[in-house]
Amino acid sequence: MASYRGLNDLGPLIGKRALVRVDFNVPMDLQTHTITDDTRIRAALPTIRWLIGQSARVILMSHLGRPKGPDPKFSLKPVAEHLATLLERPVAFVGELVGEAVNEAVAKLGPGDVLMLENVRFHPGETKNDPELSRQLASLADVYVDDAFGSAHRAHASVAGVPAFLPSAAGRLMERELTMLGEVLGNPDRPYWAIIGGAKVTDKVALLDRLVAMTDGLVIGGGMANTFLTAEGYDLGVSKVEADAVAKAKTLLQQARDRGITIGLPVDLVVAEAFAPEAAHHVTTPDRVGNQELALDIGPLTVEAIRKWLSTARTVFWNGPMGVFEWEAFSAGTMGVARVLAESTAKVVVGGGDSVAAVAKAGITDRLTHVSTGGGAALEFLEGKTLPGVLALAKSSG
Ligand code: 3PG
Repeated sequence: MASYRGLNDLGPLIGKRALVRVDFNVPMDLQTHTITDDTRIRAALPTIRWLIGQSARVILMSHLGRPKGPDPKFSLKPVAEHLATLLERPVAFVGELVGEAVNEAVAKLGPGDVLMLENVRFHPGETKNDPELSRQLASLADVYVDDAFGSAHRAHASVAGVPAFLPSAAGRLMERELTMLGEVLGNPDRPYWAIIGGAKVTDKVALLDRLVAMTDGLVIGGGMANTFLTAEGYDLGVSKVEADAVAKAKTLLQQARDRGITIGLPVDLVVAEAFAPEAAHHVTTPDRVGNQELALDIGPLTVEAIRKWLSTARTVFWNGPMGVFEWEAFSAGTMGVARVLAESTAKVVVGGGDSVAAVAKAGITDRLTHVSTGGGAALEFLEGKTLPGVLALAKSSG
């Protein structure tokens, strides 16, 4: 991967204006404007605190949600207020992204002060990667810092456009994400195992292709395991199976066998009579699923099998829940895997949306090596794609 600069490479920042892209796209109750999980805000604190410590004038920008234009529901004002609480210092807020009001707010900043701009996606140029918007944003500052790993897969103005106009560096979070996920991608300690779950094979074909080619063992759980079990000849009743992905699952199984690696499929399942949180359910084996039953979780024997498979692993990557973990009755598989990983001595990296929420629900985030703040960004990175945000940092010559 092309290299990029880190914060220390920016030179003395006393009194300089640092424009910082963060990913404060946090879950929020849109009625009460309450942040329900502030992990992403906390994850950016080391960079923000470091810049404050350097006496830089800090200008933060982020997106929140996917608004089609200015929409008060998606204002970053509550996020700025929450950040002020975490930093224990004032965070000014301006309800615009560029223009006179923003210029005035920036001019008022003293060394070590922090300003948050309004949601970048209120501006039509953001998602179009409009060079004029990038230029205007760049004109607010002396240096640019990208700490928004979760947005690095977006070729948007605040991510991929601004670095062409300013000396740019990766923030602490960005660097940590790229280092930790980079190790899993390129140079894992072996044996290296991956646990992949989630609903669909078709969402993760590129990731599965890559993992089958480079892991020492691969566990498949969640809804996608139904498709793999079907490829192995099991009849799973009315379970959700992607008929158009069965052939792909067969190919992946064959590739794994050709490489001599284990593909761990569920040896038991929690099956229900309906797709509902309170549905009657029981544990059975894949060959005994009734024709009106559907699989909604892996069973306890599978969790124990995973414990055994992973007992010698030195690196584990986990993405995707093992079942419908949001429903208590079908959460034991996902929580069981979380416990196995919390007890493991391997380097454990978790990335991608739902699995991060599952780890948080299990209360084991602190016991793992790295839990990525990236959803789509983490997956695209691990598929081997070049992320536009990272490329822009590498190309920035300013
Ligand atoms: C995310 O939540 O994965 C990132 O913030 C990116 O959001 P987006 O998918 O709306 O670009």
